[in-house]
Amino acid sequence: MQKIPYGRQYITDEDIQAVTDVLRSDLLTQGPKIKEFEDAFSEYIGCKYSVAISNGTAALHLCALALGVKKGKKVITTPITFAASANCVRYCDGDVVFGDIDPETYLLDINSVKTILEASPKGTYTGLIPVDFAGRAVDLEAYRKLADEYNLWIIEDACHAPGGYFTDSNGDRQYCGNGKFAELAIFSFHPVKHIAAGEGGMITTNNKALYETLLNLRTHGIQQNHALRHFNDGGWYYEVQELGYNCRLTDFQAALGLSQLKRADAGMKRRKEIAATYASAFADCSFIKGSSGFMDSHAYHLYIIEVDDRKGLYNHLRTCNIYAQIHYIPCHLMPYYREFGWKEGDLPAAEKYYSQCISLPMYPTLTLEEQAYVISCIKSYYEPGK
Ligand SMILES: Cc1ncc(COP(=O)(O)O)c(C=O)c1O
Repeated sequence: MQKIPYGRQYITDEDIQAVTDVLRSDLLTQGPKIKEFEDAFSEYIGCKYSVAISNGTAALHLCALALGVKKGKKVITTPITFAASANCVRYCDGDVVFGDIDPETYLLDINSVKTILEASPKGTYTGLIPVDFAGRAVDLEAYRKLADEYNLWIIEDACHAPGGYFTDSNGDRQYCGNGKFAELAIFSFHPVKHIAAGEGGMITTNNKALYETLLNLRTHGIQQNHALRHFNDGGWYYEVQELGYNCRLTDFQAALGLSQLKRADAGMKRRKEIAATYASAFADCSFIKGSSGFMDSHAYHLYIIEVDDRKGLYNHLRTCNIYAQIHYIPCHLMPYYREFGWKEGDLPAAEKYYSQCISLPMYPTLTLEEQAYVISCIKSYYEPGK
């Protein structure tokens, strides 16, 4: 069997054509593909505004800047995420406080967040960064209520979840990143994600003022409309109004993202088929200690199971040419965050989850035969001879 990774991109001839068309055009960056991609993404996600960014990490950084994170500002996030969800607070010199996870959903536990908030006077914390981890949507309606009580903003890290949703108290589907409950949401277009652009990211929002701030921050804080006030200057005139950055996506990346976006629904359908197959294959297996089973609302960036002897299984799968992965080593146990006093035992649910979790191959081009092989290799490890 050929090497089976845990995730991989799916590039078609149409994708390649879309990129080469831009490469043959006049504008490799700051051209028309950016707005086209942003508008199509807003439509897909169901939000008002989208801002294309060079990657998901830079998107988080700009969101934290736009929401005023700075020295002394405290932000709560989950330890079971990629480090960027927390690092964006540190880029702005703010303080990261990790809540524990819900052992059933693997998401930031709202009760843990409540406990943290209740332990200090109101005003101690400034924002929340919940993560739609693995593709499972956070119940942002509940988080909004809590955030309003404590005057907090919310950045939804939806990197794993374009197309995921939760059902609100009215019975309506609320799609990840739609801006209904969170001030800002971010996505990544790293190749293992649903939509690949090589590198790339997107910020979504329904807030016009934040949208305009983000456009400025993306390009050096430059505002060209101020040129109107300086009619004595020439057409070259622009002003740097604030300290901004270069966090732009190129046009050929936007073209790839746009082409991939057209297949997003088909990719999601295939991911759900794969998830349903894993769920039914493992339904009666006593070695499975936890999993999401199958949920229609899940975007299935990852399909995670929890097992005993996780390291043994991981190594066994490698001998079978299957490259499963672990998501994630808890952020609070990273040497960088230990410097702030975080240690083993601080977040027991996250740490227990980490000791048992393993992400199985999940990507649209995984074949039926490959998935059957993955399942049989896992079963034969725990139930030899069965
Ligand atoms: C949950 C989460 N947040 C943020 C990021 C950062 O995105 P990028 O790799 O595009 O910078 C990632 C990417 O791996 C992620 O998984």
